[in-house]
Amino acid sequence: MTNRLSFLPNPTNHFPVYRLLQSLFNATMGSPSSSSSTTPITETAKPTGYDFYRRVLGSPKYIVAPMVDQSELAWRRLSRKYGAQLIYTPMINAKVWVESPSKTVRDNLFDLDSGEEGDLTTDRPLFAQFCGHNPEKMLKAAQAIQHRVDAIDVNLGCPQDIARRGKFGAFLQDDWELIYKLINTLHVNLSIPVTAKFRVFPTVEKTVEYAKMLERAGAQILTCHGRMREQRGQNTGLADWEKIRAVKQAVSIPVFANGNVLYQSDIGACLKKTGCDGLMSAEGQLYNVALFSGLAEDSASSSSSEPSGSTLQFPPSQHPLHADLALEYLSIVKSLKTRTSLSAVKGHLFKIMRPALTREKDLRERLGRVISKKGTSYLDSLKPYEDICLEMKERMERDAKEVEGKSLDELVTIDEATGMKVLPHWVAQPYWRYVKPAPVPAKRISELESEEEEKAKAQEGMKRMKVGNADLDLETQPTKIGPEPIVIPTFGDAGIMVA
Ligand SMILES: Cc1cc2nc3c(=O)[nH]c(=O)nc-3n(C[C@H](O)[C@H](O)[C@H](O)COP(=O)(O)O)c2cc1C
Repeated sequence: MTNRLSFLPNPTNHFPVYRLLQSLFNATMGSPSSSSSTTPITETAKPTGYDFYRRVLGSPKYIVAPMVDQSELAWRRLSRKYGAQLIYTPMINAKVWVESPSKTVRDNLFDLDSGEEGDLTTDRPLFAQFCGHNPEKMLKAAQAIQHRVDAIDVNLGCPQDIARRGKFGAFLQDDWELIYKLINTLHVNLSIPVTAKFRVFPTVEKTVEYAKMLERAGAQILTCHGRMREQRGQNTGLADWEKIRAVKQAVSIPVFANGNVLYQSDIGACLKKTGCDGLMSAEGQLYNVALFSGLAEDSASSSSSEPSGSTLQFPPSQHPLHADLALEYLSIVKSLKTRTSLSAVKGHLFKIMRPALTREKDLRERLGRVISKKGTSYLDSLKPYEDICLEMKERMERDAKEVEGKSLDELVTIDEATGMKVLPHWVAQPYWRYVKPAPVPAKRISELESEEEEKAKAQEGMKRMKVGNADLDLETQPTKIGPEPIVIPTFGDAGIMVA
């Protein structure tokens, strides 16, 4: 059979035509009525690898990661406005989807009825991510959604205890046979491509073998998160771009790189170093939804594979007033039929406005205390959040006015502890969290001096590190040990469901 989508134009340039053809394709291949069948279809019945990446997706480079309770529809809409070219849903637990008797539970994971999630004109390209270890259950769950998304992604990266208990995510890494079966079952039976997001192994060789196995099983795009399963919480550390590069060189399907990106300048550096087709961001983008701003336009007008950027190191378009972003997000939430969970709303607002919340303590406390009283309508439940954002906006505009006429580059300060550049507190920017170091045994205090060199190296390394979960960690402060503060950075995976 010939590739039925090979004539599809680039969705970015021919949006309405793409949507029409895509919807016709979905109607034929993946309608809910045909979705209960598990009859294998031929491999060539759907686009594969680069064909899929280029012709169906339009060669997306700037990608928003799957994020539990954070890459929900409202965030996706805002993200697309600020340059995201492909977005993943939060991880959906296949077992929960298939076994839960409650429709509300499924609606909260992916609302099929509102017509907004996976809508062809406002929520695509979109990959739905699933976790689980049972191929049949994952297939059944994926079949229910496949007509509304462009691909089904399998989560092979979640390192949290919940994944260990449920045997999914990174804990499948030890059972290659099962992973092969999971991916192959989806590949053979779904009408849309299957993709996989995974973490690296301790060695390059094993990482590459693993990636090749995923490709053999039928994965059409791989996302390589350059951290190992053990790199979580305080051990998060840096993602290894070398391993990502090795994966990219070893397979013949598109690869997205994931890990270590804070600023736009990191995106070009990562794509150059790894040679990957796209860059996926989670935390960098959560704290600054404008992370990808302007990049799509840059690449359209330049033949270079790297973002050209601006002459300013910190152009205002990449670092807007965060209170404005928060209000924009809330207005999307209000406009949707699809309910955004209030925990997602609160989580986003804490992250977006994080640079100012440490100083505007009253607003931080108010935000933390917002609860929805029983009987309150959804729109009324959002009102306290909006009031806080409006108040924040007023205060931030006041502060920004004091330095009117100066560029962000001129206003950058250096954080003493880390040597990191800090932008003014009214603009969106990445977040570095200080984590309390483990107590130092008395005998080691005398050794601190001889460890100066190590600390210097660590601080150099930290220049490429970032952290997150402001809402969970607002109380964490830099801690002094010995003559100088020791700052232990952790990455986004601290404390929450991260893969
Ligand atoms: C709030 C949050 C939720 C996440 N949820 C998921 C998830 O559902 N599935 C997944 O594969 N990874 C998840 N991750 C991991 C990210 O997709 C990403 O792999 C990781 O944060 C490293 O990327 P970064 O350095 O850009 O943050 C999550 C990360 C964050 C911060």
